[in-house]
Amino acid sequence: MGNWKMHGNLSANAVLLADLRAGAAHAGACDVAVCVPFPYLAQARAVLEGGAVSWGAQDLSAHAQGAFTGEVAAGMLNDFACRWVLTGHSERRAMHAEGDQLVADKAAAALAAGITPVVCIGETLAEQEAGQTHAVIARQLAPVLALGAQAVARVVLAYEPVWAIGTGRTATPEQAQSVHAAIRSSLHDLGVPGVRVLYGGSVKASNAASLFAMPDIDGALVGGASLVADEFLRIAAA
Ligand code: 13P
Repeated sequence: MGNWKMHGNLSANAVLLADLRAGAAHAGACDVAVCVPFPYLAQARAVLEGGAVSWGAQDLSAHAQGAFTGEVAAGMLNDFACRWVLTGHSERRAMHAEGDQLVADKAAAALAAGITPVVCIGETLAEQEAGQTHAVIARQLAPVLALGAQAVARVVLAYEPVWAIGTGRTATPEQAQSVHAAIRSSLHDLGVPGVRVLYGGSVKASNAASLFAMPDIDGALVGGASLVADEFLRIAAA
């Protein structure tokens, strides 16, 4: 899954989306998706519909409608046939003060509209250095797991250590696997071991295969490398 973040414009997107649509036909059996800025959802749909690449948004409101200036509701994402929506990306947690409960509420709002939330979790560098990685992950996951097995079975999780995002400093496959194994164990305890858990943080074509070789890494949430069609498609192929 690509996360374009706040990048793109109509003309650049047209080329990137067309290249993805053409290339993904050969990407193999995995799901390939892009999460684009809200204004480009219509464009993503127009180019991608009927092909192998699905699309979604990068955030949504926890509310269904109302006086929430600047917010976008799940029902509005449905109007653009979004299959996915990110919730709780670390940039939203850090820059928009999104807390663990709000992130879970947003995931519930997406589920209620039939959209799959991709719930992002991950520790900061300071938390990692303080040995708090597993505690932070458990704290972030708690309100999501509290939605119950039926809901969580329809969620995708993305582990994105904040210190690996946009830094070129990827977690080693073993580092990522150790956190993914802990997440898997929580999912197992809830009775939903098959939930997909993506890794994110400086994933590139050159490191994707070694990450995907880990037993509990089911895919990737890709930032910068998702803006280059060939690079992103090579990750999908891996
Ligand atoms: P980069 O792949 O650019 O490190 O970004 C990761 C990310 O935040 C995806 O959501």
